[in-house]
Amino acid sequence: MARVESFAKRLNGRVMEIRHPTIEDAEHLRSLYLELLGNTFASILPPEAIIAFESDWTTELIAQSSVGENCVVIGAFNDANNALGLLFGGTPEGGVGTIVWLGVHTDHRSSGIGRALMEAGFETYRALGCHKVKLYANSDKIVEFYKHMNMVIEGRHTRHWWGVNTHSLAKFLD
Ligand SMILES: CC(C)(COP(=O)(O)OP(=O)(O)OC[C@H]1O[C@@H](n2cnc3c(N)ncnc32)[C@H](O)[C@@H]1OP(=O)(O)O)[C@@H](O)C(=O)NCCC(=O)NCCS
Repeated sequence: MARVESFAKRLNGRVMEIRHPTIEDAEHLRSLYLELLGNTFASILPPEAIIAFESDWTTELIAQSSVGENCVVIGAFNDANNALGLLFGGTPEGGVGTIVWLGVHTDHRSSGIGRALMEAGFETYRALGCHKVKLYANSDKIVEFYKHMNMVIEGRHTRHWWGVNTHSLAKFLD
């Protein structure tokens, strides 16, 4: 699988590594995933969605996806290897990559981690031969973040997954 180089960034005075995870990182990413579901996405999505998503992206799936050919998984880690940010993406289809989850721990937002993860995600999909990356967003605030990442709105989906209004956004890589 094509992989971006791991790179250390100094964000707000702390050294942060943005990289593809190892199998040993899977539990840390799973903890962050659950933190994001409980503390962030629970205010956007209905309880039944949160319950369903809790049994998705298990530690085993994250470990397999981190080292396998099929998914794009990138983490932001501090020097103790705790995960402070994650990007989970799917296998490219017809030159289109799909970012499924993006999140930064609530205590570590506005430090540049989200941008670093998005740029690493775009770079990874480009290295995989993709011409386009797409994703879905459920809140106006997050749509503005993705527009700031030079993505464009491609569609509005009324009462979409879990009955929630959703935007689809995309970025062309070529
Ligand atoms: C959205 C999220 C990933 C952004 O991560 P972050 O680490 O806080 O963002 P960054 O500090 O890297 O910000 C990067 C840039 O985006 C800008 N930005 C951040 N949030 C923004 C927003 N809501 N609207 C517009 N711009 C925004 C920043 O000002 C910064 O600009 P600059 O790099 O040009 O100076 C983070 O807030 C998060 O995890 N939110 C909750 C989870 C979520 O909703 N994920 C998306 C699911 S669809």
